[in-house]
Amino acid sequence: MALSYKLLAGKTAVITGCNRGIGKAILEGFAANGANAIACTRKETIEFSRFISLLSEKYSVSIIPVYFDASDVDEIKSAARQIMASEKQIHILVNNAGVGYNALFQMSSLEKLKEVFEVNFFGPFLFTQYLIKLMVRQNSGNIINISSTAGMDTYDGQSIYGSSKAAMICMTKVIASELRAFGIRANSIAPGMTETDMLLSLPKDVILEKIRKGGDKGICKPSEIADTAVFLASDLSANISGQVIRVDGGMK
Ligand SMILES: NC(=O)c1ccc[n+]([C@@H]2O[C@H](COP(=O)([O-])OP(=O)(O)OC[C@H]3O[C@@H](n4cnc5c(N)ncnc54)[C@H](OP(=O)(O)O)[C@@H]3O)[C@@H](O)[C@H]2O)c1
Repeated sequence: MALSYKLLAGKTAVITGCNRGIGKAILEGFAANGANAIACTRKETIEFSRFISLLSEKYSVSIIPVYFDASDVDEIKSAARQIMASEKQIHILVNNAGVGYNALFQMSSLEKLKEVFEVNFFGPFLFTQYLIKLMVRQNSGNIINISSTAGMDTYDGQSIYGSSKAAMICMTKVIASELRAFGIRANSIAPGMTETDMLLSLPKDVILEKIRKGGDKGICKPSEIADTAVFLASDLSANISGQVIRVDGGMK
């Protein structure tokens, strides 16, 4: 029999990129553990509206959608304002929305560099700055940034994507240090290759090599990243901050 704990009961979490992939799994994992959520996606869709109403009914939690493009400064600002006006407390922020990109260094344009950084780094940086104001006021908060092993290891073709995730890891550690005094902790999850649409940004031979080396642990499942996010969001990890947790089956 599966054990059922409500590790996040009474907490409210803001999660970005909830409509598919890892973000969708995190939203489901949080709801299953009793968290209310502000579920952020880029666009409103009927599928997503149906998904969150089913989820909120199934787990008896509140899930409020907020729509914004993570590369648009004005949309980020207005989404943050909307969240801060509607919620008295935000306990957890998960910066998950992101884009993949693969190109050799010599083929990587400045335009693409800016485009990837806008979603993977500038957006989460700004969004976090806004929501942290609320966390500082409430003297508590928990930030979880979804980075990547590409921000720590060396993969050919990942100079732009990996740099954006390395920047996110650095931001996480600095937030953990600067805001510790306000009861705010910050950690990052660095997934290895995970079974989502983002894998399509990688060459097929790279994926097949990972599967050859790692067998059924070579490619992570979104639910495995979500389980780690639940742990970091919960009080089980109350004294863990400034850390990067790899979820990659021990593969480099
Ligand atoms: N899959 C992997 O192998 C892997 C490995 C390491 C780290 N990660 C990281 O995990 C996170 C989730 O990725 P995933 O694997 O779940 O990929 P995914 O299935 O491609 O989902 C990406 C999510 O980010 C959202 N997003 C992208 N650009 C956006 C924008 N400009 N504004 C708002 N939302 C935007 C997407 O929304 P739309 O549906 O509107 O596009 C979608 O919800 C990312 O940060 C990624 O870098 C993934």
